[in-house]
Amino acid sequence: MQNATSHIAVEEEQEISARRIFKTIAAELALVEEEFERQAASDVGVIARIGDYLRATGGKRVRPALLLLSVAAAGGDAARYNSIRMAAVMEFLHAATLVHDDIIDNAEMRRGAPSINSRFGNNAAVLVGDWLYMSAFETSLQERSLEILEILTAVTRKMVEGELIQLTLLGRADISEEQYFDVLRRKTAYLFSACCEIGAILAGADAGSQRALREYGLNIGTAFQLVDDLLDFTATDEMLGKPAGVDLLEGKVTLPLIYLLRREPAFAAAVQEVMRDGSYENFSRAALMSAAEETQALEEARSRASGLAEEARIALHALPASEFRDALDALPAYITMRES
Ligand code: IPE
Ligand code: IPE
Ligand code: MG
Ligand code: MG
Repeated sequence: MQNATSHIAVEEEQEISARRIFKTIAAELALVEEEFERQAASDVGVIARIGDYLRATGGKRVRPALLLLSVAAAGGDAARYNSIRMAAVMEFLHAATLVHDDIIDNAEMRRGAPSINSRFGNNAAVLVGDWLYMSAFETSLQERSLEILEILTAVTRKMVEGELIQLTLLGRADISEEQYFDVLRRKTAYLFSACCEIGAILAGADAGSQRALREYGLNIGTAFQLVDDLLDFTATDEMLGKPAGVDLLEGKVTLPLIYLLRREPAFAAAVQEVMRDGSYENFSRAALMSAAEETQALEEARSRASGLAEEARIALHALPASEFRDALDALPAYITMRES
């Protein structure tokens, strides 16, 4: 009971700080929700139904927020329809990757609710993922910008490559830090970077600001996925709205374990056993966690995340001071401190 109460307190606190950071663009984010609804509308009944479900179980909307804040921080108008439309496009692309990712990972829960694959089946989920991708591209064509289209196609290819490379690395305890970060950037960071860079382009920013925002997005996106992996390692199902501790069960060795194995190579047998069994039956999750804690592996991985967050903030120096730049500046701390 004690735990449940303090957990609610933490959740409220986080929501408040996320709300505070996004406050400057709250009205625009509400418009993105409306746009999302318009873009997800379809006269194909099954698509409309799944689109409604996706909206009803919406996530944190970090990517649209990043795009809108980037537009505004680069001197553009976040309320302009072009900004709202592209913010919705980025959330569509994100949703497409999640729908496909949950099929690949056999995930039953997402955002505290049954995943699309478990609710509607794998076949429908594959096709809805495709539909979301193509709808995102169709909408982005209305921007008539080859530069934006190039970024979107490149980032989508990289995300698919990230998932494919990850497949080839499944079950390997000898994955290097470089391989880990390569997959992580592809799966997550380039999309964050694209949100920020497209924001700069929509604002008509100069090359320096565009580069700064691209850089900011890449670093904050890398930190974001690294924190996601850390949370999988340390958090509970209730905190995440999806099962915790599953990365290793699925054969994914993430940074805390890479650091642990570097310090204590003898743990490789245990790590391999958990992956082979697909369960913590013979080696508990708690034991791995405390080993990572005792060897400072966990601390080292956390400090990598903070370092990336700091680098993201440094990139912002190239932009003029504004409340929007302040919001972008506050975001890395929220992301590295988040518990869900
Ligand atoms: C989940 O992304 C997938 C990762 C890149 C870790 P988010 O944590 O942004 O998911 P939602 O959209 O808020 O559910
Ligand atoms: C993140 O992959 C999803 C993509 C960015 C494609 P993960 O499998 O690591 O993330 P979760 O844990 O399902 O959200
Ligand atoms: Mg997954
Ligand atoms: Mg995955």
